[in-house]
Amino acid sequence: MAKLLAFAGSTRKQSFNQSVLDVAVAGAREAGAEVTEISLADFDMPLFNEDEEAEHGIPASAQAFKELMMSHDGFLIASPEYNSAYPAILKNAIDWASRPAGDEKILAAFRGKVAGIMAASAGGLGGLRVLVVLRMLLENLGTMVMPTQRAVAKVDTLRNDDGTISDEKTIKQLKALGKQTAELARKMRADS
Ligand code: FNR
Repeated sequence: MAKLLAFAGSTRKQSFNQSVLDVAVAGAREAGAEVTEISLADFDMPLFNEDEEAEHGIPASAQAFKELMMSHDGFLIASPEYNSAYPAILKNAIDWASRPAGDEKILAAFRGKVAGIMAASAGGLGGLRVLVVLRMLLENLGTMVMPTQRAVAKVDTLRNDDGTISDEKTIKQLKALGKQTAELARKMRADS
């Protein structure tokens, strides 16, 4: 069974990306994956600073996040597009997770892992541009990003009052992304 870690690049209460992520998570679980869904808000990582790191090491919050990444086979990540790139909270978390501590292998949180990535926006492109840079970032760190990705456009028109996604086609596509990510993660785990 694959173990996936799922998180959104938004901590907004009514986050569209969280709604989209929840559907992909459901798809992965239906495919038999064990999914840990977290909020970056629960980690409260300070902004990365190399002087602070040299003096105090990696803060406990960032180390806990990195260890979660290390203990999973892959990731489901839904990111807002902020000015055509990822929000600072997501990049900050990834930067912290890229830092080794103790005898950890270099980039242990990323190498050999698989990621399914998605975005959501009320705009017409659905945050498509953030997926380009998020894919590049993760692949440069050693994570294989699924060829299929989802940018959910006009997402504000695709939700129920309780924030869940209402559109059947969108649900089908997001669940398929979750399922495919789980299946590849399971295969990569079996082969390693
Ligand atoms: C945005 N938003 C946005 N949307 C988009 O489609 N392309 C973009 O480049 C941007 N840029 C941008 C910059 C900044 C600083 C903010 C705060 C917002 C709008 C964004 O998609 C919207 O706030 C989403 O609702 C954010 O995602 P969550 O929080 O709903 O998951």
